[in-house]
Amino acid sequence: MVGSLRWPAALLLGLGMAAAVPAAQAQGSLVLYCAVQEEWCRAMVAAFERDTGIKVSMTRKSSGEFYAQVKAEAANPRGDVWWGGTGDPQLQAAEEGLLAEYKSPRLAELSDWAVRQWEQSRGRTVGVYSGALGFGFNTKELAAKRLNEPKCWADLLDPKLKDEVQVADPNSSGTAYTLLATMVQLMGEDKGFEYLKALHKNVNQYTKSGAAPAKAAALGETTVGITFMHDLVTMVVDGAPIKVVAPCEGTGYEIGSMSIIKGARNLENAMKWYDWALSPEAQAIGAQARSYQVPSNKSAPVPPQSPKLQDIKLINYDFAKYGSSEERRRLLSKWDREIKSLPK
Ligand code: F6P
Repeated sequence: MVGSLRWPAALLLGLGMAAAVPAAQAQGSLVLYCAVQEEWCRAMVAAFERDTGIKVSMTRKSSGEFYAQVKAEAANPRGDVWWGGTGDPQLQAAEEGLLAEYKSPRLAELSDWAVRQWEQSRGRTVGVYSGALGFGFNTKELAAKRLNEPKCWADLLDPKLKDEVQVADPNSSGTAYTLLATMVQLMGEDKGFEYLKALHKNVNQYTKSGAAPAKAAALGETTVGITFMHDLVTMVVDGAPIKVVAPCEGTGYEIGSMSIIKGARNLENAMKWYDWALSPEAQAIGAQARSYQVPSNKSAPVPPQSPKLQDIKLINYDFAKYGSSEERRRLLSKWDREIKSLPK
């Protein structure tokens, strides 16, 4: 009799204790390095915590900054998952042995371009979204300065646009590295660098984050901003006087990516995030947070505001080459030497 009383008592005590421990604590934690817009990072974290009870500690930075951080922390990794940001720095990190191999059961649900990213990195990074590079201009500023509407990359070299163009620094920003690699692929390396030198005369500021020039253009702080087109769409949706341009010569694009960091302390939870972030439900959160990239899960809704990639003249961006450690390092140091240090 005593024995039969003891069990329910122990059970109740156990339940009571479990109820006293917050769900998040019970499920452990996750350290997330998030390289998209803050609003989207926060919405993802909130939904994941709600769905799993896992507590997420999130930091937001640009793609190149996280590459540098993950490399610096290699001997003592602090992050578990690197989610979002352009794919090139993640491919570089994969090649340099900084990322863990993982095959998600959701891999078969993804578009070919997302799976190719996984294959090229030998299972160390995967595509989560895609988007094309372009530029946008503030229609009011342009009219006030009596300038013609730029339609092509070449138009951004117009001397009348001196100090009127903003773009990020490719060392910190994946967006700006995509511009650098796009020009090299579109024009050939010599002409591509000539173009960037000429553009330098019109650049008012190299920002840290890739999307910052879209915000500056929306505020009229710069007339033209070079960013991914979806970041300009966010400004349009907010009511800014911005016109978004897919450059006439053609343009590059990104495969926004995700990786588990090698030596992740919360490996189980990192895999949970990874699988969850590839689900159609999680990928639908982007548009709710005013981010209009094209999701990689074929069943995730493509936001109606997303620039239509099939209507944009896209180059055949060579991710294997421009995401390789040697090429990315070489191009960035050449850009530092030959462009950034130039007087205006
Ligand atoms: O979230 C906006 C976005 O443009 C992503 O599409 C892209 O992967 C990321 O920002 C790149 O940011 P950055 O250029 O700052 O590395």
